[in-house]
Amino acid sequence: MAVKALKGFKDVVPGDVETWQFIEGTARDIMHRFGYAEIKTPILEKTKLFKRSIGETTDIVEKEMYTFPDRNGSSLTMRPEGTASVLRAYIENGLHQAKPVQKLYTIGPMFRHERPQKGRLRQFHQISVEVLGTDLPRVDAELMGMAALIIEELGLSVSLEINSLGCPACRPAFNKALLDYISGIDDLCEDCLRRRETNPLRVLDCKNDTCQSYYKDAPSILDHLCLDCEDHFTAVTADLDRLAVDYRVNHFMVRGLDYYTRTTFELITGDLGSQSAVGAGGRYDGLVKQLDGPDVPGIGFAMGMERLALLLEQKDERITAPGLDLFIAALGGQAQDMAFELCHELRSSGLFAALDYQDRSLKNQMKQAGRAQADFTLILGEDELKNNTGLLRNMQTGDQYEVPLGGDVAEWAIRLLDRMETCE
Ligand code: HAM
Repeated sequence: MAVKALKGFKDVVPGDVETWQFIEGTARDIMHRFGYAEIKTPILEKTKLFKRSIGETTDIVEKEMYTFPDRNGSSLTMRPEGTASVLRAYIENGLHQAKPVQKLYTIGPMFRHERPQKGRLRQFHQISVEVLGTDLPRVDAELMGMAALIIEELGLSVSLEINSLGCPACRPAFNKALLDYISGIDDLCEDCLRRRETNPLRVLDCKNDTCQSYYKDAPSILDHLCLDCEDHFTAVTADLDRLAVDYRVNHFMVRGLDYYTRTTFELITGDLGSQSAVGAGGRYDGLVKQLDGPDVPGIGFAMGMERLALLLEQKDERITAPGLDLFIAALGGQAQDMAFELCHELRSSGLFAALDYQDRSLKNQMKQAGRAQADFTLILGEDELKNNTGLLRNMQTGDQYEVPLGGDVAEWAIRLLDRMETCE
């Protein structure tokens, strides 16, 4: 029996890959406009990197990581997200010394052993963005403005929800208020009962209806922010207004990773069933220091490429590969040899060109040219060769022109390009 891919791991095949290229190309272009540089980090890291950053009691670390012993016994993990690795690389490569504010992005696969469903995979891909070295609220707004622009330029529409998770100065008081509120409730689900002991904030993320019916009246973190965090949040929302970025404050939003402080946000869609977050992120001001780096603040977000691709497909916005500039239909051995040589020259000159290798009839070759969405077909037959000409057919209009061949083929290609422009 043929070997199949693992559950939750997917191929992206031609026909689909063009949508991915469109997403990646659009995002890259925008991130470069905003001054971000790409960073590539390894997929495998020491397990303790993720335990120390994402948090020991998070679902990711407790039950979702692909962790295994290396041949020498040390524990390795396939990265479940991009932030921890980028921060490790930032510290290890002394990037804070190179520039006081680093704007970095990385694009690639992440791994989480979750139950696969629509929009949720075990190997998924993120466009992951980090700004390190500044805690200005304006940076938070600029970052969310950039996320919103990526969505807009992809032709999608999602809603931006924002919250503040406070800081080590004000979070404990909120945790206590929340704990006081939930400690009297007995019929919470098992997960919430466990989280109540280990990580109370995370209960707010529970999807269970009974639990949610209690949490809707739970205390709000926004009522417990210290003055600095409150000022920060007010400045962020003012700057979002300045950029005319739409958002909704959701004071119940908590994140599945422990490193967040202050601003957190999610890009939410109602079009993907239960996997509603297309992207998410927030500020993590203590994290670099926690990983034994300099005491610099940071903020970032990641978008899930599978979810973006699904949204585009659902909109029937399937992106197709570009068609050919030119198909060469050759008849007879001599013409085929010439077509073979010409095709290589044309490709070298920057044209998207193709030819038939199988001595098919002219009719079949024309069909082939049509399927390949060629703008033009150059027909080379015995008669044309004798006169050192070819017949150039505009595939849209059906108009045909005799074009001279011979001489320097690259030069000919350039003439052909000019000709194509005037024919269009
Ligand atoms: P996250 O919320 O865990 O945050 O993931 C960000 C995005 O990755 C999600 O909104 C979703 O679109 C996508 N995603 C997550 N898990 C899966 C999955 N199993 N299948 C498909 N897509 C998925 C982070 O990872 C943070 N590192 C974001 C960040 C960057 N925060 C600051 N900087």
